[in-house]
Amino acid sequence: MSEIKNCAGETYPVFATGKVNGCSIVQSAVPYGSVWYLKVNVSGINGGNAIAPVPGQFYMLRSVRSGLLLGRPISVYNSRRISDSNVSIEFLILLKGTGTKELISLESGDGIELLGPLGNNWPVPAENSKVLCVGGGVGVAPVAGFAITLPKKSYDFVAAFKSGSYGLDYIFPEKLTITTDDGSVGIKGMVTAAIDSESVKKYDAVYACGPTPMLAAVQKICADAGVKCWLSMENRMACGVGACLGCTIHTKEGNKRCCKDGPVFDAEILDFAKIDSPVTSQRMARREPLAKNEEPDLSVKIAGVEFANPVFAASGTFGYGREYSTVLDVDSLGGICSKGLTLDGQPGNFGVRLIETPMGLINSIGLENPGIKHFIENELPLMQKFKAKTIVNLSGKSLETYVEGAKLLDKTDAPMIELNISCPNVKAGGMAFGMEPKAAASVVEAVRKATKKPLMVKLSPNAPDLIGVAMAVKNAGADAISLVNTFQATAINIETGRPCFENIRAGFSGPAIKPIALRMVYDLCLAMNKLPENERIPVVGLGGISCWQDAVEFIMAGASAVEVGTATFGNPLAMTEIVKGLRDFMAKKGYKTLGDFRGCAL
Ligand code: SIN
Repeated sequence: MSEIKNCAGETYPVFATGKVNGCSIVQSAVPYGSVWYLKVNVSGINGGNAIAPVPGQFYMLRSVRSGLLLGRPISVYNSRRISDSNVSIEFLILLKGTGTKELISLESGDGIELLGPLGNNWPVPAENSKVLCVGGGVGVAPVAGFAITLPKKSYDFVAAFKSGSYGLDYIFPEKLTITTDDGSVGIKGMVTAAIDSESVKKYDAVYACGPTPMLAAVQKICADAGVKCWLSMENRMACGVGACLGCTIHTKEGNKRCCKDGPVFDAEILDFAKIDSPVTSQRMARREPLAKNEEPDLSVKIAGVEFANPVFAASGTFGYGREYSTVLDVDSLGGICSKGLTLDGQPGNFGVRLIETPMGLINSIGLENPGIKHFIENELPLMQKFKAKTIVNLSGKSLETYVEGAKLLDKTDAPMIELNISCPNVKAGGMAFGMEPKAAASVVEAVRKATKKPLMVKLSPNAPDLIGVAMAVKNAGADAISLVNTFQATAINIETGRPCFENIRAGFSGPAIKPIALRMVYDLCLAMNKLPENERIPVVGLGGISCWQDAVEFIMAGASAVEVGTATFGNPLAMTEIVKGLRDFMAKKGYKTLGDFRGCAL
């Protein structure tokens, strides 16, 4: 087969499907993120020759069954040509997040997508020169992959780990020095415990890959010693081929893409002071973890109502609590927002009510509900039996019906009302009230007069001036604000050529909206913080929260509590897992109360 070349004469990368030939954990890499060996067989495309990587290169890897959008950049640890049409490639994978979790879950025979080989390579050392290879953590992989190609004992190798050691199977250095942060193997300490500007003077060049602080230290040591230094840089990237510009770093020679101009760079052009943003690289002061017998306090008070924890079931996703009560421990939640209720109830929308999208859900329920009287008689008494506090979600077709509904609820023992001025699925009322400040204030003002109950107003992300609406409802008497309700979205049936939903537009929720919802909560909390303290009201954040890390982000953005909605449909235990995850996170970080980290990102 003829080689495929692009207009610049480059023959790779290519996109191919390989077969996993083994995936096993490296036992010694504990207790931090575990490290795995992944072996893959790659064949040439259309029966052509398989391309073998050169040391220093990497691939974008993704499971063919992946639920993720992007591949993950993984350096080659070792590669071996089996035949013209077949290459075996080994990777070392550090379990960091969802992408690497998918990769390490692969088994022999599974398919894996590979885009590569990508990037440049380590410069070949001059003949008879003596070089030092330095690998830190999983950064040991590309350096070891390079050392394998050097004559035996023509190099020394320093490997630095947090704990244990791995990735040193194929190398034959003259001298191998291992350092570990915890002293479990070799010298206790970091890479600087093994090399300094005097000891590196004996080398003709140093080749290093690892965490950024380690590379900065190696760069300085080599600069002080006057020794040539090559550093392999890791960075987040989407494409791997130089198109997305996500992995660009600012260097002394201008912008460089880690994927295409690197990953291997001459250390002289790198300016580590410019690689990390001064804004995002700040850290909160480190605290000691809480003592084993000390429980973090997750409680939160919103508008005078005490919640045991800040995790509430979002309206419309949890019925009235009883629906899920055999599935999860409803008592372990902080609160439950009822399905949106209207004075007389309504049957909801015709036709298709739900469409799933990648990581999202579009709904057009249309506020189907049995009416407030029915709720008060039949559902509220049961809801009130839960330890989780009841929050009654009140909607209306008109100002008058909001007010009448509020009056009825005022006579009950429900502790809080969530005033829904944000449902996008009804022709009258709902979101229409929440789109601009004046209309929003009018309904809050009227309902405020009708009830003394704490009033949390649920806002629509579709309002052009969300902060304006938020401030207007606050000034009209809201005690708290919850946001965001769903985003207006649509879907088209390509068979009929017609919209899928009766109302054409419907409400979009789920993990896909989380970053936008988080930004809106962040903006509102920022605006709230600019007010004198006695004028601020609490913000409850929601929108795509599906795990405890999401909840932490919303609280760090200033949310007093969070509501979890769509995630419960897929994982009914999501909320209980979030409560546990929050508790563990706080204990580990030494946070005694939510106030210790609430709003820290503002
Ligand atoms: C619906 O019932 O259509 C959704 C409720 C809402 O978005 O408030």
